[in-house]
Amino acid sequence: MELLSLNQLKFSYPNSERGRLDIERFHVNTGEKIFLFGPSGSGKTTFLEILAGVLSPASGSLIIDGTELTKLSHTQRDAFRADKIGYIFQSFNLIPYLTVIENIALPLNLSHERRKLVPKNQELQKIQAIALRLGIQDLLDHKTSELSVGQQQRVAAARSLIGHPKLILADEPTSALDFDHREKFLSLIFDICKEQAISLIFVSHDRSLQSLFDRVVALADINKAAVKNNGGLA
Ligand SMILES: Nc1ncnc2c1ncn2[C@@H]1O[C@H](COP(=O)(O)OP(=O)(O)O)[C@@H](O)[C@H]1O
Ligand SMILES: [Mg+2]
Repeated sequence: MELLSLNQLKFSYPNSERGRLDIERFHVNTGEKIFLFGPSGSGKTTFLEILAGVLSPASGSLIIDGTELTKLSHTQRDAFRADKIGYIFQSFNLIPYLTVIENIALPLNLSHERRKLVPKNQELQKIQAIALRLGIQDLLDHKTSELSVGQQQRVAAARSLIGHPKLILADEPTSALDFDHREKFLSLIFDICKEQAISLIFVSHDRSLQSLFDRVVALADINKAAVKNNGGLA
């Protein structure tokens, strides 16, 4: 089953030649784990932000879980993202003055759909369960500003996974970890994705992890504007 289907997508930033995307087709199956790579500046974050509905393309079609995102308003896309997508930001975007538990609970407070799946009276138990699996169970009452980078990363993962999203978009979330920790962190995310049939798009410029994924995609291979982005050197 196809969860995400993108066709004839064109995107450019206003008044800039950089970060242009021209992608004929890209699709993701339900439960599929994709490794998307490309050098720094090649448009990986831009692409994820389009898939998340943060940026909107100039033309083309993007269907996720049966919804055509390009037909939605900005507000509708925000609601769609809150309901269906877990986004792990490159810099985590945790709220420093909130505790770990409050950060993990955020998506439940932003989405009716996720709240239905994790009602208030089950919230603590669900958060504790996911925190235990990620090894952050003893940190739940700490402010996230008190945590190490590796711990913050696991909080960001827990937040993205709470309340059964359909799709996880992970933007180089392991860049601050050494290889062993990266593999361990990934296998935890993989386990949870597998149990809940969540699809994963994992972005990195470090190809040492790619063999762990179902499919490996080079952004330059699918992006027809890539040659121009690199001044013809790609
Ligand atoms: N808001 C923006 N306006 C104009 N150019 C941008 C903007 N954001 C990123 N870019 C440019 O688009 C290109 C791709 O950026 P990005 O998607 O962040 O690449 P990556 O994540 O692969 O490092 C870069 O050349 C970057 O400078
Ligand atoms: Mg990036």
